Amino acid sequence: MLTKKDLNFITCLHCENPLSFYGTEKKAFLYQGVVVCKNCDKHWPVKNGLLYYYNENKVQGTDRMMRVLYNTFAKLHDPAVKYLLPLMHYRTETAFRKDFFKELKLEDLFKSKKKKFRILEVSIGAGANLDYILPHVPKAKELEYWGIDLSTGMVATCEKNIKKKGYKNIKYFLADAHFLPFKDNCFDRVFHIGAIGGFNDPKKSIKEMIRVAKTGTPIVISDEALHDPKNRNLYEKAMFKFLTFYDRNPHAPTECVPENCAHLKVKPISNFYYCMSFKKSA
Ligand SMILES: C[S@@+](CC[C@H](N)C(=O)[O-])C[C@H]1O[C@@H](n2cnc3c(N)ncnc32)[C@H](O)[C@@H]1O
Ligand SMILES: [Zn+2]
Repeated sequence: MLTKKDLNFITCLHCENPLSFYGTEKKAFLYQGVVVCKNCDKHWPVKNGLLYYYNENKVQGTDRMMRVLYNTFAKLHDPAVKYLLPLMHYRTETAFRKDFFKELKLEDLFKSKKKKFRILEVSIGAGANLDYILPHVPKAKELEYWGIDLSTGMVATCEKNIKKKGYKNIKYFLADAHFLPFKDNCFDRVFHIGAIGGFNDPKKSIKEMIRVAKTGTPIVISDEALHDPKNRNLYEKAMFKFLTFYDRNPHAPTECVPENCAHLKVKPISNFYYCMSFKKSA
């Protein structure tokens, strides 16, 4: 959900100019109406508190197909990651997510003198990663957590989870990872888990993550890659194939990271998942 003030932070998908909201608010959140570009008059709907901020004709290829799956199985996603996935790759959800978050170097942010900071989660899903960040934010710091996703089902589940857990200051809306509607250099951390292998154009989405990150910011990405394939048995190979049916070559997309990014590193966080991290250079 977003407030009118949050709109100052989002730019027009067509001309990158500022936006206005026309419609009704509920408890200061945009509720029903339209978000309109002040310059080019393009508009996007807000329905039941959710901004639909993408151009349908640009949602292409695997993104379209995967959206149907995520919408259909939204409620099952997080329970499956918690209970079924560990039976396939022999690691608990907590263990592999914790290994992932080590690379985001949040403690450096918490230790810095800066009081306020912003994190962007590309593909927030049902919000499972909020639990790995929000409880660790020191009281003296103010975190603005932004999350975008392309699936209404996943975001609706996320909304319920946020309300249930009482998390505050989470700004989420529907948007496409290939077109991040934010200004350049505005996030202190940018991360993504679990979908880039199915993106229509991973290189474009990585370019976008780099663009919106501040210089020196760690950008951390995880998705499926079979670790040490020679030592995986038939069951593991079959499970991996099942999980990545949409991807001909599941791998860490290091080829999409521009050469001027520093500290490019790939580590396995389970037999099925890689964690790729790098820093945005000046
Ligand atoms: C496997 S889930 C992971 C969700 C969450 N990041 C997590 O770690 O639990 C992948 C998510 O990516 C989203 N997604 C897929 N394609 C997307 C796109 N082009 N732009 C934004 N989100 C997308 C899906 O809707 C889904 O919520
Ligand atoms: Zn515009």
